[in-house]
Formats: sequence, structure tokens, C-alpha cells
Amino acid sequence: MTKIVAGNFKMNKTKAEAETYCKELLGLINKNDNHFIIIPPFTLIDSVLKGLNGRGNVGAQNCAIAKNGAFTGEISAEMVADSGATYCLIGHSERRHVFNESNEDIAKKLDMANAANLNIILCVGELLEEHNKLKSVLNAQLNALKGKNLNNTIIAYEPVWAIGTGKVALAEDIVKAHEYIKEYVKKEFKTNIKVLYGGSVKPENCKEILALNCVDGVLVGGASLDAKKMAEMIKTAK
Ligand code: PGA
Repeated sequence: MTKIVAGNFKMNKTKAEAETYCKELLGLINKNDNHFIIIPPFTLIDSVLKGLNGRGNVGAQNCAIAKNGAFTGEISAEMVADSGATYCLIGHSERRHVFNESNEDIAKKLDMANAANLNIILCVGELLEEHNKLKSVLNAQLNALKGKNLNNTIIAYEPVWAIGTGKVALAEDIVKAHEYIKEYVKKEFKTNIKVLYGGSVKPENCKEILALNCVDGVLVGGASLDAKKMAEMIKTAK
């Protein structure tokens, strides 16, 4: 079964680098490999859309809590959609912990992204010191989905201690968290939801992670910046 490989560039790359990346990536994957999402900084959405020439999908890393107005430095969900991106990451751990986004902010962003008809990747996950209260952390984060249209939403489970650290969660921890998220969403919101795993995923470990039944794909940061590594993971996900 084909799974999703999403690459979050974070705050990396120039236009020229993004163009070279897209060329290299398309040269390395097969013609019908489109099960990937490139999530560059806002300034590179157009370059990546052009570079991919209709292949795969392109997403934004964030959107604002409001439709428009006096929010200097912010980009609205409508602007993301207008740029041509079809996905939007919401609640990435760096947004939550570096920029202090609350679950309330995230709920507003989900509304904005839904209204703009974007596909949403909602990121959830616990800090290291929260590992022993995983379920209550996940419940609070997942409750941002209450009352939303979930047709175009997927979840990314990213334990914060595994992001950019080289420490991947154990397979049994991934299974536990993914099954819990799926059951919780089914019980509370009466729908099935896809769950990606994120946190130090790279070509060397993605085969084992993608082989887990409850994993619908991976969200990759650091390793996605290298087109060769990204291509390898896209091929493994098939
Ligand atoms: P990482 O980042 O793959 O570099 O750990 C994952 C993420 O932040 O989505």
C-alpha cells in the first residue's frame, strides 16, 4: 500500500536551491510517484509548484488565526490557497513551543484552513517530560478538532523529543500513540483519520516505520532537505 511522504523544509533553502532540488527529485523518482508533499517556506511555494510541474503536492508550514486584517508578518489560509498550495501544516511543535501557539490558536487555524479548502496536517505530540501523560496531552491537542470538518484532515504524530534529535520513537511507542489517536478520533468525532509519524525519519529507518499498519506515512524534516534522501523515502513508501 502506498503511503504519504511529507517533507517539511522548515526555514531552509533559497529559490535557486528549491529549483535545483525539484529537478533532482523528479529525476530520481518514478513517473507515477505522486504520493509526496513538499512543504517549503511561503516564499518558495511558487518555485516548488513550478519545479514539480504538477507532480506530488505542495503545502504551507502555517497559516494565520484570522481571515485578514492587522496581523503584520502573518499569511492567511486564503493566501496559502491563492498561492497554489493545497496543504497546510497546523500546530507543528516548533509553532507550539517556539512561538507559543495554544490549542485555541490551533483550533482557529483549523477553521481558517477548512474555509480556504486546504488539506490539513495537524501535528500533535508530547514533550519528553509529558511522555508519562501522553494520553491527556494528545486529548487536549486533538480536541482542537472538535466541531470541524475532518474530511481533508490528517494527523502527524511527532513526539517533540524525537524532532531533529536523531532519536526515533520505538516501534511500540509509535503503534501505541497512532492507535490511540485513531481510536480517540473515531470515538469523539465519528470518523477514521490517517496518521503520519514524524521525528528523525530518514532513509535508514523509514522502511521499518512505514511497515507498521497504523502508520499512514511520514512527516520528515531534516532528511527531506536532500533530494536523494527524499526520493529514497518516496520509493520506500510505495
Ligand atoms: P526531523 O523533523 O525529521 O528533522 O526530526 C520532523 C518535523 O519537524 O516535522
